[in-house]
Amino acid sequence: MSTLKAVRGTRDLLPPETELWNHIEATARRVFARYNFGEIRTPIFEDTSLFARGVGEETDIVSKEMYTWEDRARAQSEKSQSLTLRPENTAGVVRAYIEHKLGETGLLQKLFYIGPQFRRERPQKGRYRQFWQIGAEVIGPPSAGSESPLRDAEVIEMLATLLDELGIVGWKLEINSVGSSADRARYVAALREALAPVKDRMCEDNQRRAETNPLRVLDSKDAGDQEIIDGLPKIAEYLDAESTENFRQVLAALNACAVPYTVNPRLVRGLDYYTRTTFEFTHGGLGAQNALLGGGRYDGLSEVLGGPKAPGIGFAMGEDRLVLTLQAQAAEAKAALADAFVAPLGEGLNAEALKLARELRGAGLRVELGDGGFRLKKSFEMGNKLARKIVLLGEDELSSGMLTVKDFATGEQVKIARTNLTEALR
Ligand code: HAM
Repeated sequence: MSTLKAVRGTRDLLPPETELWNHIEATARRVFARYNFGEIRTPIFEDTSLFARGVGEETDIVSKEMYTWEDRARAQSEKSQSLTLRPENTAGVVRAYIEHKLGETGLLQKLFYIGPQFRRERPQKGRYRQFWQIGAEVIGPPSAGSESPLRDAEVIEMLATLLDELGIVGWKLEINSVGSSADRARYVAALREALAPVKDRMCEDNQRRAETNPLRVLDSKDAGDQEIIDGLPKIAEYLDAESTENFRQVLAALNACAVPYTVNPRLVRGLDYYTRTTFEFTHGGLGAQNALLGGGRYDGLSEVLGGPKAPGIGFAMGEDRLVLTLQAQAAEAKAALADAFVAPLGEGLNAEALKLARELRGAGLRVELGDGGFRLKKSFEMGNKLARKIVLLGEDELSSGMLTVKDFATGEQVKIARTNLTEALR
């Protein structure tokens, strides 16, 4: 009998890795609490039309990636219904907002969620068919300030804080504005016009997108099509005065709290509900699936789902990708050489060597400490295994304040004043 395995694109999470998952979730909960978010748990499956209407029929998610089935009626009183495993959670949250009349509180609803999502994508590193998202949405009536660009900046600033608190090093924020739905309609028309004479020269996927959903051409990674795509009109030229001013205010608020970003005019995102601000945080260590998280504003989604006017902004982080990034960082840190190996030349200098190591570590350097009992040859051998450079501390060095530093990679040996040592080792 053949043995059964987890279905393609799904996987088991086992200890000790689950500890890292719990750590990430606990950190997210802690940060969300500081920004006064509360948790929402929506069902894992919903009526198929929620995603068709909310996310958009023409999107890749709805047209190719959903797990959908016909749920047969069990009794005469029941109707059969098309159900879908949620491919994302924003549509579900907005459905719940409408269903429970949360807008009637007159306040902003700040809701976060943690849970599995399902998309039938081609599995690869960082891309699974069951994956986990940690997300949050800020949604409410315009009178509660839900349309303000300050909300966008606050959410993005929270994400920068969260990624820093998780210890993710080297994240990048890309941001764009896709304008109001009217701006977008004008832009899509312009794209269609610009694509018409050139699309025959593009790859098959892009030829199809040029017809069905021209915005999707912009985030195509097809190498041969990049020149054409670079020459297409830019969304910024189609924003009306209000959208332009809005985007300026989001960026100004990010500048004010020193959150670094790059404006990427091609960032349109794969879901139809976005208006105005869109953003992604990426990480170079993830390879092709480099988005740690994505989000944006969706001012019309509630109305599309039959609810009241309730502008909103939110994001979802790929928890699987946070785990991959943190694991890669930990492995790198383990394999990395220390900045310096401090070698006391004689046991009488051990205490001074500890003092020097403490100084360097205090400046943030990674330092290994030898022992004055080691012969010089042994110090060099050990230093070479553990660190990029060796710092020799003998009586002469101590009295003159000039330390001997050898770089193992280049073989170069120099004298450096103790006051300049930190900089020289960095
Ligand atoms: P999304 O860009 O489709 O946006 O997904 C958000 C994040 O989920 C991605 O950046 C990625 O980290 C992760 N993710 C997506 N698909 C997969 C997959 N197959 N395997 C692993 N990770 C994946 C949304 O879902 C929107 N609902 C975000 C949002 C909330 N916008 C406004 N509010």
